[in-house]
Amino acid sequence: MNQYSNDVAQPRLEGRKIPFEFPADTDPCWIPDQPQLSAMFNGASLTMPYLEPFLIRTIREAGKKVDDNLLKNDIAGFASQEGHHFRAHRRFNDLLTQHYPELIQLEEKMQSSYARLSKKSLQTRLAYTAGFEAMTMGVTKWIIGQRTKLFAGADSNATSFILWHMVEETEHKRVAYDVYQTLYGKGSMAYLKRALGVFHGSFDVMRFSMQGYKVILKSEGLWWRAGERIRLHKWLAQFVKHVFPFLFRAALPGHDPRSERDLDWVTEWLKAYQDYPEVVVPLVDTHDPKMPVPFKRIAMETSQ
Ligand SMILES: [Fe+2]
Ligand SMILES: [Fe+2]
Repeated sequence: MNQYSNDVAQPRLEGRKIPFEFPADTDPCWIPDQPQLSAMFNGASLTMPYLEPFLIRTIREAGKKVDDNLLKNDIAGFASQEGHHFRAHRRFNDLLTQHYPELIQLEEKMQSSYARLSKKSLQTRLAYTAGFEAMTMGVTKWIIGQRTKLFAGADSNATSFILWHMVEETEHKRVAYDVYQTLYGKGSMAYLKRALGVFHGSFDVMRFSMQGYKVILKSEGLWWRAGERIRLHKWLAQFVKHVFPFLFRAALPGHDPRSERDLDWVTEWLKAYQDYPEVVVPLVDTHDPKMPVPFKRIAMETSQ
């Protein structure tokens, strides 16, 4: 039994196959008057059908070396959640590539990049996986914590889909780290490789996301205009401000993702989902000034 999976308070990870739909007429600028912010999220979405299958393959391969049944269950839950994520992103991204066919070239580049990365050692890939997951903690705190500012009046399908993804990222935040620690321990070389993985995983995904939004903003004629570029940099500064502290903390010796406190909104979402009528998509009301978890409203609607 290793010390990470022996966490009786930790509920079993659940893959939720939520049937998010993205109508063909969804505006790729789905946050009103915020083409840069929309493009940043769209750029990140583009990476997911390449990144997340890589994470799944890596964690499953590592899982073959794990004896602990609780940790094996965590790995299965992690893979299930990531599988639902990238399939939903694929559906969303198909809309994007219809609007911006130039993105297909970038997708081919990502495919090749992850094929090359898949040839690296398991330790390097697992450190990348745990490192990327550390970044998602920062992104989650930013996106969910600031949701009322970021998504005010935005397309509810896209917003709710992204928030769901972030909720599940919180839920499985410790899994890749636990597997890494179980397989490679706490020696100084293991730590060093894990710390490198924080930056390798994070910056690799950021690099592709940036290439994605650049293609989109160029296509929209917003890339070379100074005022529009300033708007982009303001959002990027927000990203750096909220996310980078998580990267630096994650790279410290002795860091454990459990030390990152979960947001109440996430806890409430997870609790409410337990009584949730599965067939209905949990759409967040982006016009509500507080943007509460969607379940109460849906429960009222379904009881009428
Ligand atoms: Fe994910
Ligand atoms: Fe994840």
